[in-house]
Formats: sequence, structure tokens, C-alpha cells
Amino acid sequence: MSFPHHRPRRLRATNALRRLTTEFRLDPAELILPAFIREGLNNPLPINSMPGVVQHSTESLKRAAVQAVEHGVGGIMLFGVPAERDATGSASLDPDGVLNKAIRDVHAEVGDDLVVMSDLCLDEFTDHGHCGVLNASGGVDNDATLEIYADMAVAQARAGAQVLAPSGMMDGQVAVIRQALDAAGFEETSVLAYAAKYASAFYGPFREAVDSQLTGDRRTYQMDPGNRREALLEVKLDLAEGADMVMVKPAMSYLDILADVAAMSPVPVSAYQVSGEYAMIEAAAANGWIDRRRAIEESVLSIRRAGASMVLTYWATELAGWLKNP
Ligand code: PBG
Repeated sequence: MSFPHHRPRRLRATNALRRLTTEFRLDPAELILPAFIREGLNNPLPINSMPGVVQHSTESLKRAAVQAVEHGVGGIMLFGVPAERDATGSASLDPDGVLNKAIRDVHAEVGDDLVVMSDLCLDEFTDHGHCGVLNASGGVDNDATLEIYADMAVAQARAGAQVLAPSGMMDGQVAVIRQALDAAGFEETSVLAYAAKYASAFYGPFREAVDSQLTGDRRTYQMDPGNRREALLEVKLDLAEGADMVMVKPAMSYLDILADVAAMSPVPVSAYQVSGEYAMIEAAAANGWIDRRRAIEESVLSIRRAGASMVLTYWATELAGWLKNP
């Protein structure tokens, strides 16, 4: 034997030894709960493709936020599903629109006990389902979209969002949002940039969650799953534009990207364990094919280990409960 003194199994012998020598462990404070609110609901509505996740009513959303606080969850990311959609997503700017109202309600409910974050994108609000407005030839018009994002940013900050999360992958979105926030006196509002967001099949269930109207795909603005180097360019651009935090999305199929970004980013790095990742584990667990709790814990841990300091996961509250009472 060439290394007689190295027997890694020594440190695996007991629970106490394993606990002492583990390199990464999860903490509820670094979890972010994505939550959907749908306009006009009196009761929460289950999402078929995401068992356990619902479209919230105002009341159920407030309860979910309070529950997250009670479990020590770090933040909540709000997505709105409006009753009416149009070509420019105008409901996103209405101070009483579903998302802006939800931000106000949740903020009033939890104050500063939970970081209130909002998705800043047009796809839930447009009648064509794209993340921006369309030009004459039907493509997504980058710069016309930026003008709307700027107004959305101010509307969301005014409603009380502490962190805005632009997820549309328009070029220059962080700069425009930062400028609009500063001009309106919201210097304290942070931007969490979806910096490296891939055109992924794993968003499938989310499309049901937000009643997406999209018929095509988002490949002209979201990243090509075949690209690794380009993620660093996206992150560098967002940092130069003033991003306070960055995100890699999805998480599990992009852990190499996450590790790359974590190695170079001077700001906190988050990763989004998306709807399809959730649905796969839930489906396998429902069939008795994997141990649900262990699979959830292991999947989120892998995302932390790859370099995320924060993880967006639909299991945030449940997982936080397990971490508090192992
Ligand atoms: C776009 C957005 C999407 C998700 C978060 N923000 C969908 C998309 O880009 O098609 C996906 C989240 C998930 O799948 O859990 N506003």
C-alpha cells in the first residue's frame, strides 16, 4: 500500500466525527423561497406539475411569508400572475397590480424579518409570454424593454421590495434599473441579477405556475446550454452595471457554471433550483424511487458546495424546518 497512513474512513466512523469534519452544511438563513401570487384568488390553487406548490391568494401568501420567517428562511422571491395581460405587460407598472400589491402586503406582514425580493420581468404580464416587448418583426426588442424595466423597478421599490431580481436577460438591464432606482431616490434598493440564466427545459413546470402564454422559446435572450465561458461575460457585465448579487439558473445541471462564477465573483452568488428540478425529485419520491428528504437535502447541499452562498428553492421552508429540528 503506498499511503498506509491515509485512511479516510477513520473520519467517517461515527456520527460525531462526521459532524465535526463536514465541510458544508445548510443554514435556513441562506434559503430563498420563490412564491407565486395569482390575482383574484380567494383560496390557494395547487400547481399540478409542482406538487406541494401553489398559486397563492393574498391571505395564503401572507401566511407563507410568516411561516418562512418562523423557520428562519432568509428571503422570499415574489412572482405575480395577473388576471389581464397585454402586449406591453402594463399591469406590471400598476401600483395596485398583482405583484406590486403582493410586495406591499408581504412587506407589511414581515417587515425586515425576511428579505422581500421581486422578480422583475415581463413574461408573466405580456399576452405573448415573452420577457420583453416585441418589435415589428416579432422579435424581443431589447432597448424598448429596458424602458419598461426601469419603470417596473421604481414601482417595485416603491411597493417595498428590498431586492429586485431582473430575470429577462436583456442586455444592459442592470444598468438601466440601477439608474432608474437612483434617480427615484431608491439608492438603498439592491439588484440581484439573473446573470447566467440558461434557456432550459427545466423551467417547464414554472410555465404552468404562471399560466405562461409563451408558444415559442426564449433562445434569443436566455443563454445556450452549451456555453460555459459566456457565463463569465454575463456576470462581468452585470457587475460592471452595478449588480449587488448575481445568480446562476438553473442550478443542478449548471453546477460547473456556478463553480466558475463563485470563483470570480466579488459579490454574493445565488443559484435557483428551478421548477423542473423540484418536479423531478417530487415525482421520483412519489413513486417510491428515492428517499424524498435525503434527495432534497443532498440536492440543495450540492448547490451550496458548488459555490452558491444563497439558494432559491421551493423547499425553502420545509427544508429550514428539517435543519432546525434534525
Ligand atoms: C422569467 C422566469 C422564469 C423562471 C423564473 N423567472 C421562467 C422562464 O425564464 O421561462 C423559472 C423558474 C422556475 O422554473 O422555477 N420571469
